[in-house]
Amino acid sequence: MATSIDETILLTGFMGSGKTMIGEALAKKLNKPFADIDKIIEEKEGMPIKDIFKKEGEAAFRAKEKAEITNYLTGANVENAVVSVGGGAFLQEDIRDLCMENATVVFLHISWQAWLDRMDMLVATRPVLHGKTISEIRSLYEERQAIYARHHLKITVDGLDPEEASGKIITAF
Ligand code: S3P
Repeated sequence: MATSIDETILLTGFMGSGKTMIGEALAKKLNKPFADIDKIIEEKEGMPIKDIFKKEGEAAFRAKEKAEITNYLTGANVENAVVSVGGGAFLQEDIRDLCMENATVVFLHISWQAWLDRMDMLVATRPVLHGKTISEIRSLYEERQAIYARHHLKITVDGLDPEEASGKIITAF
């Protein structure tokens, strides 16, 4: 799809890159609704993502994630919105394709150095980080860069607050 600010914008990127807060700020600036796919899943399941991982496992979570993204982008109530997806959503190639076809995909890139400053608040709530050493998390960060290679726009968010990052996205169109 051609990148257009008047159509749905989807934010992807590693955990802690600020997808939710930047998405909210961007939606406000553009006067569009904002949807956080992880929040939709949590509301539907009645529990936080970390409990879904614990009770049902990662594969079950990924299936729910795929269903919600597909429904949001191609279902009956499609909206021109700003959408953020979890940092692992693009592990599934068909999700990447679907997002690229139905939205402008914005990759929020955060450098490893900048990410380290946010690490402590993330480890407690992100099951894929739980119990990992720093070097294992670093490897995950590096591996994940490959899945974010499918995007229309890449924005580096180091040192930017959500206001600034969302402004940077708008000027990148
Ligand atoms: C995940 C990222 C999380 C959430 C889940 C798995 C991942 O979302 O979907 O914990 O595998 O990267 P955020 O990227 O919003 O933290």
